[in-house]
Amino acid sequence: MFDFNYYTPTKVVFGKNTESRVAELVKEFGGTKLLIHYGGGSVVRSGLLKRVTDTLDAAGISYVTLGGAVPNPHLGLVYEGIELCKKEKVDFLLAVGGGSAIDSAKAIGYGVANDGDVWDFYDYKRQAAAALPLGVILTIAATGSEMSDSSVITKEEGLVKRGYSSDYSRPRFAIMNPELTMTLPDYQTACGCTDIMMHTMERYFTNGGNMEITDALAEGLLRTVKKNALILCEDPGNYDARAEVMWAGSLAHNGLTGCGNDGGDWMTHKLEHELGGLYDVAHGAGLAAIWGSWARYVYKDCLPRFKKFALNVMDVEDVGSDEEIALCGIEAMEEFYRSIHMPTNLRELGVEPTEEELVLMAKKCAVGVGGEMGSAKVLNEEAMLSIYRASM
Ligand code: NZQ
Ligand code: ZN
Repeated sequence: MFDFNYYTPTKVVFGKNTESRVAELVKEFGGTKLLIHYGGGSVVRSGLLKRVTDTLDAAGISYVTLGGAVPNPHLGLVYEGIELCKKEKVDFLLAVGGGSAIDSAKAIGYGVANDGDVWDFYDYKRQAAAALPLGVILTIAATGSEMSDSSVITKEEGLVKRGYSSDYSRPRFAIMNPELTMTLPDYQTACGCTDIMMHTMERYFTNGGNMEITDALAEGLLRTVKKNALILCEDPGNYDARAEVMWAGSLAHNGLTGCGNDGGDWMTHKLEHELGGLYDVAHGAGLAAIWGSWARYVYKDCLPRFKKFALNVMDVEDVGSDEEIALCGIEAMEEFYRSIHMPTNLRELGVEPTEEELVLMAKKCAVGVGGEMGSAKVLNEEAMLSIYRASM
């Protein structure tokens, strides 16, 4: 068992109509002039943005707005947001939306509070020393960015998608009303469930460290999301299922399901980030498309964990060799993806990279992780290329 820090400073306000408390929370955390940052317009169409600005107006809190954060959010809009915040003397960021709006806001927060080019942080050139405070109103259960220390930004030039993590960017508060997720397309709900499970699976498939309570939490979370993702396929308006998934999304990525182990594997995410950067696919779908190929490539090097996963999460029968049980678990996971209409290879994802593009993705991925990475199995550029090829 490894030593660990567990730091989750975010105040979570969870339940129906909780967005009506936004002004009170902004005041509690000292915001006087806000940038409200959002995505491509779903919060305008649903009326959420209007409800939020009405509440702020009534409380006398001033704000400027900036929409347009796209899935796989772009650096260009981050620069625009930084300039706007400086010009308007913004002292608090409010992201209304999903991981893309939240991550874009986090990057804006770094850019305002630190000198120099904000991309330096995502390019691993230096560390941030501060960030503007951030509050969140979440509209999709997926990334866990509402409690996480990470943000992922795509630089348009060269389509480089990179993540940066620091405790400065953990939101001060997160408003989570599961009802707000009911306007989501079914595809995005399923992408979100996939991402949530993957955040815990990345931490679970490891060769470093072991903690019984952490594994029990992880397995319980995975079983819960699996069950409720299936319920939401049949009954998208089910409040309780949406609530289970939404809270799981935060717990899956606030560090809880990794305490006591080595931090996890994370190679499925790194391989997906190249797909997201190059082909602009939905993050969750990209993860589902690559996971099976990753799992088959690494499972023999992490057999006890793959067996445990098969038995405790996928309900595989404890019959046969460890390898057979592990493989049945991988197959069962892929079957689950299919049942929630997620892809299990790149073709189903809708992308058909050429061999040159596969080589390019593997090269960029290897550069992005500093040569090699992984805990279930350490992967180098050649291994990454093999996994991309197998996922075709
Ligand atoms: O942009 P709008 O119009 O809001 O539409 C969004 C978008 O098209 C839509 N949507 C969101 N809430 C909705 C809604 N549509 C109707 N009703 C609602 N209530 O859904 C689409 C996806 O939204 P997005 O914010 O892109 O999704 P997600 O939360 O999955 O975020 C994905 C991004 O987060 C990164 C991913 O790589 C990707 O760039 N990640 C961030 C992480 C973090 N910060 O900790 C960790 C993750 O592993 C991930 O890498
Ligand atoms: Zn993710």
